[in-house]
Order: sequence, then C-alpha cells, then structure tokens
Amino acid sequence: MSFYVTTPIFYGNGEPHLGHAYSTMAADILARHMRQRGEDVFFLTGTDEHGEPIAQAAEREGITPQQLVDRSAEQFRDMVGKVDSTNDFFIRTTDPGHIERVQRVVEQVKENGYVYHGTWTGWYCPRCADFKNESEVGPGDTCPIHEISLTREEEENWFFRLSAFQEPLERMYVENPGMIQPDFRRNEALSFIRSGLRDVSLSRSKLSWGVPLTWDADQVMYVWFDALLNYYTALGYAREGEDLTSRFWPASWHILAKDILKFHAVYWPAFLLAADLEPPQRMFIHGYLLMGEKKMSKSLGNVLDPFEVIERFGADALRYYCFREVSFGQDGSISTAGFESRYETELANDFGNLASRTLAMVVKYRDGVVPEAEPDAALSADFDSLPERVCALLDEAQIGQALEEIWVLVRRLNRYVEESQPWVLAKSPDDAARLDQVLYGLVEGLRVVTLLLHPYLPNSSATLLEALDHSALELDGFGTRPGGYTVERIPPLFPKLEAPE
Ligand code: MSP
Repeated sequence: MSFYVTTPIFYGNGEPHLGHAYSTMAADILARHMRQRGEDVFFLTGTDEHGEPIAQAAEREGITPQQLVDRSAEQFRDMVGKVDSTNDFFIRTTDPGHIERVQRVVEQVKENGYVYHGTWTGWYCPRCADFKNESEVGPGDTCPIHEISLTREEEENWFFRLSAFQEPLERMYVENPGMIQPDFRRNEALSFIRSGLRDVSLSRSKLSWGVPLTWDADQVMYVWFDALLNYYTALGYAREGEDLTSRFWPASWHILAKDILKFHAVYWPAFLLAADLEPPQRMFIHGYLLMGEKKMSKSLGNVLDPFEVIERFGADALRYYCFREVSFGQDGSISTAGFESRYETELANDFGNLASRTLAMVVKYRDGVVPEAEPDAALSADFDSLPERVCALLDEAQIGQALEEIWVLVRRLNRYVEESQPWVLAKSPDDAARLDQVLYGLVEGLRVVTLLLHPYLPNSSATLLEALDHSALELDGFGTRPGGYTVERIPPLFPKLEAPE
C-alpha cells in the first residue's frame, strides 16, 4: 500500500523554530512507522517561497527575494536534518518543476470554467496572505492571528469560483467524517463551509514575486494556491525521469496546524476538484506549542530554538518530549523545566535504565547469551496485540496515544524487574530456569518496545537494536524471537544532564 504524508511548507521569510519542527517530527514519525510496516512511503516537506512578505523582507535587507529564500531554504533544510527527518524530498516553490506544474493545473481550472476576471475589495492580512471575510476581522480592523492592522485592498484580479464548491465540500465531509482529524476541526471546517463560500482571488496584480499566470503576464498566482499545490506538483518531479503522481496521489495525510485549516480544508480540496484531481485522503490538524500562554512564532518574538534544545538533549529527546507533553491535536505548553523532568524520569529512568540493566543482567548472569525459555504467561498477556494497537492508533495519526500505549509496557517491564528480582534468583542454582524465563521475557519485551519506539527515538532505538543484535526494523510480536543470540552492554542511552552554564 502507498502512504504519502506531508508537512506544511514553511514560509521562506522566517527562521525555523520548534513549531515548524513539530509538524516535521509528527510527519516523520508516521513515515518511519509506515516504512516499518513495509508500506511504500513518500514523505514531503519544504519551503513556501513566494508572496508579499518575502518580497518585502528582501527589500528591507537590500537583497533579492531569490537570495532571501535561498538562505532560508538552507536553514529549513538544516532544521529538518537536525530533527532527523527522513523526508523523501524537500520542495521549494521556486523550483522550476513546481512553477511549471502550477501553471498547468491552474490552466486546467480555468479551462473547466472556474476562473473569471473581477475586482476585489476587502480586508487583507499581509502576514497571513489572506483576504478576510467580515467575520474574520478582529476589533479595530485587525488580524486576530497576528494582531496587526488589516489593509483595505482593491484590485483587479482573476477569481476562483470557490462558491461552486460549497455543496460538494459539505457533502464530502459529511460522507467522510474521518477526513479531517480531530473531529472538532472537521466541525469547524463544516461550519465555515456552511456559513457560505465566497469566490476568492486567484491572482494578485500588485506583486511580481510569484508564479506568473500564463494568460495574463501582469498577474501572479495568489500565494496560497501556489503553496498548496506543492503537495501535488512535487510528485511530478521529485525523482528525475519518474512521475510518482499515480503511485502516491491522493496524499494519505496532510499534517498542519490549526491556523491554516481553512486553506487546507476549504480552498485546497475545492481547487483540486476544479482541476479534476482527487482531494487528499485525510488531514490532521494539530495545535500550537505554547511558551507560557502564547504561540511561538517569529512575529510574536517568543521563539524557542530547536537547535539549542537538540544540542543539549538530542533529537530523540525533543521528538519524545513534544508528543508526550502535548496531546497531538490540542494546544499545549512546553517549557525547559518540562523537558528536563521528562528526560530524567521517563527517558533516562524508565527507558534508559530498563535497557541498561536488562542488557547488563544478561551479560552478568548468562555471559550475554539470551536464554532459550518460555516467557511468563502474565507478561506475554500484557504484550498481547501491542503492535496491533499501536498500528491502529497511528493509522489515525494518534501519535501521543500510541506513544502512551508503548510506554505502559516500558513501565510494565520495569515493574517486572522489581517483582521478579533477577539478582535474587541469580544467587540460587535452583532458580536457574526461572531466571532464564525472566531474562528472556525482559529482553523480548525490550526488543518489542524498542521496535515500536523507533519512529519516536530513531537514534537510541538504533543503538539498542544493535546491542540486541537485531538488524530488521519490522514490527514484531512478543515471544517471536527465540533466545540463543548474544547481546552487549550499552552506555546510558540518556545520560544525566550537565547543569547549563
Ligand atoms: N507557508 C504556510 C503553509 C503553507 S502549506 C501549503 C505556513 N507556513 S509557516 O511557516 O507559518 O508555518 C508552517 C507550519 O508550522 C504551520 O502549520 C504552522 O501552524 C506550524 N506552526 C508554526 N508555529 C507553531 C507553533 N507554535 N506550534 C505548532 N505548530 C506551529 O503557514
């Protein structure tokens, strides 16, 4: 089965922050997990490089927009690498391959009768790059998201006949209730659609930094349509000489945050339908990571640098923390103190110690050879259908709940050590068979949870799997690998933190 997951493409006028990393890590967890299940996976991320804010930022710096986005694309590529993202391609909307394909799709939309010429008057937020309905305008004609004054715009544009899709979109979401997750976001999208869809500008005339319309050289594509199309165009040119579109379209999951729900849940499927293309299968709308009370964002000036966090804690710890601390789909506060506490109690103690002492005991009591034994029935029962449960949750992009499901078993294994007291068993030769059973169960449990944790903790799970002499990443059930193989000790997976200077 093919599995195609995307992140939003990041604005090329900002610097990467943890909010961007969050969407990337979420998509990466799903991509890695699906690869473990043997699915045919494509994972896309990239940068959104056209539009007014970028042209303006470049002008302020006295450089060309191209120079600005070249620099920022490198920063985002770097961020994506540092969080250990395994994206299969990094799209930039200034790629000639993208531009060409955007032009082709919009021509199709025009040919199908959904484009007309008109005059736009209304409120516009340059930061959102969004034309606001009266209901979306904050007090004093401000943008409720960016808390800046909206501008009154009037210009000649080409329009997209969004209004024609009110009924088809409503029907689509009623008939496919799982398409937008979580459910409350689907309801939000539905109520926006039901409140009435007005046609929207498809192009801008006061701007030159964008994809030119082929039939009107004075106009460039409205940046949101240009940007949304990345999900589709990338498949056409990501692999030289190969078109991946029929293999991966429609996308399995778009991962995005709540501020861009309208564009993804309303404009995007409408535009695809207008071009005779299939809408994405599903989208997951996550919340904001908050520092204190506020969303982290460059324009609000309260950015937590993911690079610093990774340097100190490692990418695994960042990936783990974000999905453990904040329920995926909700807003949630993050903090350095929160990081440290989970690092210490959960990663270092629950998981790191379990791994170290399990391996150490096998080395000490059995010369490193995993005993060939039947596992404890009670322990087996607790592991029963664990991989299936985790798969079912991740099929629904329930990244935090799947992690919780795994962690219950990490804790179970720790309790098993305490209950069975292998160090006591080791003292009496009469208990040798029981010790074999306990050690086998521990190693097997550790192996199963480590495989399941691979998408969350790609580095420490790799170290651990190597120590377990286990090279395959496929998910496995408890008790399926017989003993008789040799394991090694490992240094602490999550060493104690030095106090920062
Ligand atoms: N360029 C558009 C997306 C176009 S997709 C066709 C954009 N870019 S963005 O750089 O502003 O944001 C990219 C993603 O990061 C968005 O989903 C955004 O909501 C998410 N995040 C930005 N800050 C965030 C947090 N503080 N917390 C969680 N995610 C947030 O929007």
